[in-house]
Amino acid sequence: MPLSHSRIRTFEEYQDAYQRSIDNPEQFWADVAEPFTWRRKWNTVLKADMVNGHNEWFGGAKLNITENCLDRHLATRGNKLALIWEPNDPKTRQIRYTYRELHQQVCQFANVLLNNGVEKGDRVCLYMPMIPQLAIAVLACARIGAVHSVIFAGFSSTAIADRVNDAQATVVLTSDGLNRGPKQIPVKRVVDEALEHCPSVRRVIVVEHLGWPVHMQEGRDVWYHQEAEEAAKTCPAEEMDAEDLLFILYTSGSTGKPKGVVHTTAGYMVWADYTFRNVFQVEENDIYWCTADIGWVTGHSYLLYGPLLNGASTLMFEGVPTYPDAGRFWEVIDKHGVTVFYTAPTAIRSLMATPLDNVLSYSLDSLRILGSVGEPINEEAWYWYYTHVGKERCPVIDTWWQTETGGVMISALAGVSPTKPAHAGQPLPGVQPVLLTQEGQEIEGNDQEGYLAIKQPWPGIIRTTYGDHDRAKQTYFGPYPGYYFTGDGARRDENGLYRIIGRVDDVINVSGHRFGTAEIENAINQNANVVESAVVGYPHDVKGQGIYAFVICRAGACDSDADKPHVEASIIETVVAEIGKIAKPDKIQLVSGLPKTRSGKIMRRILRKVAEGETSNIGDVTTLLDPAVVDEIINGRK
Ligand code: WT7
Repeated sequence: MPLSHSRIRTFEEYQDAYQRSIDNPEQFWADVAEPFTWRRKWNTVLKADMVNGHNEWFGGAKLNITENCLDRHLATRGNKLALIWEPNDPKTRQIRYTYRELHQQVCQFANVLLNNGVEKGDRVCLYMPMIPQLAIAVLACARIGAVHSVIFAGFSSTAIADRVNDAQATVVLTSDGLNRGPKQIPVKRVVDEALEHCPSVRRVIVVEHLGWPVHMQEGRDVWYHQEAEEAAKTCPAEEMDAEDLLFILYTSGSTGKPKGVVHTTAGYMVWADYTFRNVFQVEENDIYWCTADIGWVTGHSYLLYGPLLNGASTLMFEGVPTYPDAGRFWEVIDKHGVTVFYTAPTAIRSLMATPLDNVLSYSLDSLRILGSVGEPINEEAWYWYYTHVGKERCPVIDTWWQTETGGVMISALAGVSPTKPAHAGQPLPGVQPVLLTQEGQEIEGNDQEGYLAIKQPWPGIIRTTYGDHDRAKQTYFGPYPGYYFTGDGARRDENGLYRIIGRVDDVINVSGHRFGTAEIENAINQNANVVESAVVGYPHDVKGQGIYAFVICRAGACDSDADKPHVEASIIETVVAEIGKIAKPDKIQLVSGLPKTRSGKIMRRILRKVAEGETSNIGDVTTLLDPAVVDEIINGRK
C-alpha cells in the first residue's frame, strides 16, 4: 500500500476529510479501510452504541493484523528497514531488521508459541525489556491470534500478578534481565515471585539478553533460543474476526484496581494506521523514532503497529535519555538520521534542566517533525523543544489521546494544520470532541472550558474492560450517556484549538504515567504502620505531577520525630513492592488526622491546596468534623 493512501496533505484537505468523516462516517472509514489485506470484507462498517459502550467496527470482516504489518509489504519493501534497535550502551551492537527479516523473526516466534501450546484467544503476558524480541513477540501473538498483554517492565511482582490473574494468562514471556542506564535488573526473578500467585500460568518462555544465570522451573520454564532451534521461519497467519481481541493493556482509573483496556483487531488497525500516517506525515524514506516503551499504549500504536502498518522504518531504544549522558537522545538522532521524533514532555523537561551543550553539540539536521505525548506540554518545554531540538524548522505536534482511544484524537497534523504552544489543536477526522458542563450540557462556541467528551465512536475506541464490561460502561459511557467521557478537562480557544488542562477525576499523571490516587492509597495502606492515607497530585517541575501522600500511622508506630524517616522509608518500600518504583511518593507527610466531612468523606480539595502550597487560600472548612486538623496539616507541610 502506498503511504499516500488516505493521506491528508493540506489544511483544505483536512477540512474536507473532517467534514466527510462527520457527514458519512461509514463511507469515510470504508474508503480508508479499503486497501488493507482482508481475508473477507466487512458486512457493516459501524454498529454504534455510546450508551452501553458496545461499539463494533467492520463487523464480519476477517483479517490478520500482522499480514498488514508485514506480509503486505514484502513485495515492495522486503529489503527496507522495518526495525532498528539501539541498545542501552552505545558501544554495543545495534540490530536492524528488514521487513523480510522481521517477518521471519515473527513467524519463528509464532511457531515457538504454537509449539508451546498457545492457542487462538489465549492471553499471553509479556514482561520484557525494550529489545527486538519484545516487538517480535507482540507481533507473534497477533500472528496466531493470541491476545497480548504487555506489562511495563518497571512494575513490581505484585502488580504483575494482579494483571496476569485478571487476564487469566496461560503463558508469560520474559527475559533473564534488563538494562536501564547504568543498572541491570533481574527481570526473571520478579516474574518468578509474581507467578507464585498465578495458578493459570503453565509456561514461561525466557529470552536470553544479559546472559545471566536464572532459575528455570522444571516443567514450566523454557529458553526461547532453545525452542527457536526447531521452529520454522514461516507461519501462516490465523484468520481473525474484526472484533476478536488483539490486546489488553492495563491502565489506572479513579478506583483502586487497574483495568484491562481491550482493543480489537480491525478497528484498532485502521485507527493506528490512519492516525500514524496523518499525524506524523511520514514519507517513504523517513526514520521514525518514538521513545515510548512498548509497555504503554504509545509504544503499541506508534512504535509498533502504526509505523509497520505504514511500511515505515521504526527505531526502538533500549536505554534512557540520560545514559551515558544527557545528550543520548540527540546522539541517537544523529547516528541513525532520525527524521521524525516523538517523545514525552517529562523527558524534555528533564533534559532542559541539564547544560544546553548536551543538545547544541549535535547537528540534528535530519529532523523534520517533532511530537509530544502523554501529558500537557508547558510553554517553556514547548519552546525549548522547538528552538533547541527542532532549530525552529520542525513543527511540534502535541498529540492528545489515551490508552482507551487506541490512537491520537486531537493533534495538529505535522506541517498541515496550525500549531500553538501548549495546545493539542484540532480533532482528527472521525473525532467529535465536545465540552460538557458538570451536568452534561454541551457548551457551544469557542473560548470555552469544560469536561472533554467524544460524541461518536471512532475505529480505535475501547471495546470493553477485560472480564468486566460494566466497569467500562460505568467509567466511560455512564457519566454522560451517549458520550465517551475522557476524564480530562479542556479549553477550546478563540480559534477552536483544544488545550488539555488535565484530569478532572482522581487520576494523576506522573511523568506521563497514569495512577489512580486510590491505587496508591491501597498500596500505602498495606504497610503495617499505616492506618489510613490520602494521596493527591501536585505540580512538579520535571514530572508534571508529583505524588503527595498524607498518612496516618497506627498508635505506637511513629511516636517520636526520630521514627519518622524509618516509617517514611518503609512506606516507600511498600509502594515499590505493591506497584513499582514509578509510583513512589515524592512527599510523605505523617498526620494525626485527615480533613473529613461529618459523613466521613475526605476533602481532597483541601489536601490538594496544601500539596500545591496554596495554604493561604484553603477555602471553607466549616463542614469538617475536626477543622483543627487543617492547621496541623498546613504546619507540617513538606
Ligand atoms: C491521559 C491518558 C496518550 C498516550 C500516553 C498516555 C494525558 C495524554 C496528552 C497531551 C495533555 C495529555 C491526559 C489523558 N495526556 N496526552 N498531549 N496533552 N494531556 O496515555 O496513560 O492512557 O493517559 O494522559 O490526561 O487522559 P494514558
